[in-house]
Amino acid sequence: MAYVIGVDCGTSGTKTVLFDEKGTVIASKTIEYPMYQPKNGYAEQEPGDWASAMINTIKAVMAQSGVDKNDVKGIGISGQMHGLVLLDKDNNVLRRSIIWCDQRTEAEVEWMTSTVGREKLIEITANPALTGWTAAKILWVKNNEPEIYDKIAHILLPKDFLRFVLTHEYATEVSDASGMQLLDVPNRKWSDELLEAFEIDKSWLGKVYESCEVTGTLTKCMAEELGLCEGTIVVGGAGDNAAAAIGTGVAEDGKAFTTIGTSGVVFAHTSGIAIDPKGRVHTCCAAVPGAWHVMGVTQGAGLSLKWFRDNFCAAEKETAAYMGVDEYYLMDKEAETVPVGAERLLYLPYLMGERTPHLDPNARGMFFGLSAMHTKKHMLRAVLEGVSYSLRDCVEVFREMNINVSDMMACGGGGSSPLWRSMLADLYNCPVKTVASKEGPALGVALLALTGAGVYSSVPEACKAVVSVDKTQQPDAANVPVYDSYYQLYREIYPAVKAQCAKLAKL
Ligand code: XUL
Repeated sequence: MAYVIGVDCGTSGTKTVLFDEKGTVIASKTIEYPMYQPKNGYAEQEPGDWASAMINTIKAVMAQSGVDKNDVKGIGISGQMHGLVLLDKDNNVLRRSIIWCDQRTEAEVEWMTSTVGREKLIEITANPALTGWTAAKILWVKNNEPEIYDKIAHILLPKDFLRFVLTHEYATEVSDASGMQLLDVPNRKWSDELLEAFEIDKSWLGKVYESCEVTGTLTKCMAEELGLCEGTIVVGGAGDNAAAAIGTGVAEDGKAFTTIGTSGVVFAHTSGIAIDPKGRVHTCCAAVPGAWHVMGVTQGAGLSLKWFRDNFCAAEKETAAYMGVDEYYLMDKEAETVPVGAERLLYLPYLMGERTPHLDPNARGMFFGLSAMHTKKHMLRAVLEGVSYSLRDCVEVFREMNINVSDMMACGGGGSSPLWRSMLADLYNCPVKTVASKEGPALGVALLALTGAGVYSSVPEACKAVVSVDKTQQPDAANVPVYDSYYQLYREIYPAVKAQCAKLAKL
């Protein structure tokens, strides 16, 4: 039997799973780390925290499983997209990583748009300039920390930094590189034109591979540290969303998924390239060679619920610990006692600005309609519903683009909540399914590693062999029109306060 390791470097922690070739979980371990927010709208993490979490989780799964290291045929890495890791010529990390949800680059985005032109940027990168994407972060460092910028020798994405730790190769792959805004997305290679316009040295960037290609092998020193064999292959892997697509079998037209992790994403596979001319959803290369995907992103999905839990649910945390159940399970049970619409309370999840459909780093969260009759449980339900309204916004853009979705899967921490899934089914007015494996991105990159190791002949074949549907949540006909009315009102709130959000950002 062949085994592979899937590593997922997320925002709240890194999860490593050892799978057999049928996709069965043999051992799994997660290690969490902090996110730093030195200013309103800023978000940073320590690359060193990611590296030690990866090393310790790989060691843990190997120790737990007792699997012979010679049977581990490959490693796949998935990770949060867009984060900027800067290394000097001696491979020292130059500063904390500015991560995907950081919104400090408004000025750089304006400069990129006026220098290159919005249409040209969309033609090359398939997307307009975006505050959370990597190119704007590089320019921010140039403008604000020139002493650091001068020392740059290598630029890597979070999971590609982990690849460097494992293999000593500077490499990336098409799905994650699409989110740097430096890739020619239709042609799947670095854009010389943009690198020149932004004065970014091409030698700073890694070599671009397809996601299932072998990008390097474990160094002797790392192999000894991890309890694995020197020469074990490390495949391209994928950005967390492209990886989740493979882990949920979204590898052909008509298939889509919604994931609720720290961010919320609605993702659809497209065999040809599809671009929203208004830039409200992103277009990136898929982890399936020669294919693309579109994805709408809600910045503060699981982040909203975690924020609510950490600030207002100390009692639930204590009770959950006492009962030996998950805190979120208990919070779901409380939210279930409140009717659809939270008795006229709405929540806008824009705690870290918003991408789809507003593209506004200054948007901020709010509760709308608070009344003295509302309790914490109403606010909790409103948070879950508000995130679901924002995900419906993504589906609406797909519908406008004529992207047909016949199969909607749900995954991520939020996708495992039956209540959240029922809200999505009611708001999308279509069945929402889950797959038997809960491992999403880690399974996705494990399937890429199995393909790279030759166990499967293609990525879609690996998906067909391993991924199977588990549960199907049907929409509730009575809830659909009620949610629709709330959603229509939700859509009116942001435009009404957009100007005030911009003023607030300037105070
Ligand atoms: C996608 C995005 C997030 C991150 C973090 O564009 O920014 O989904 O990948 O999960």
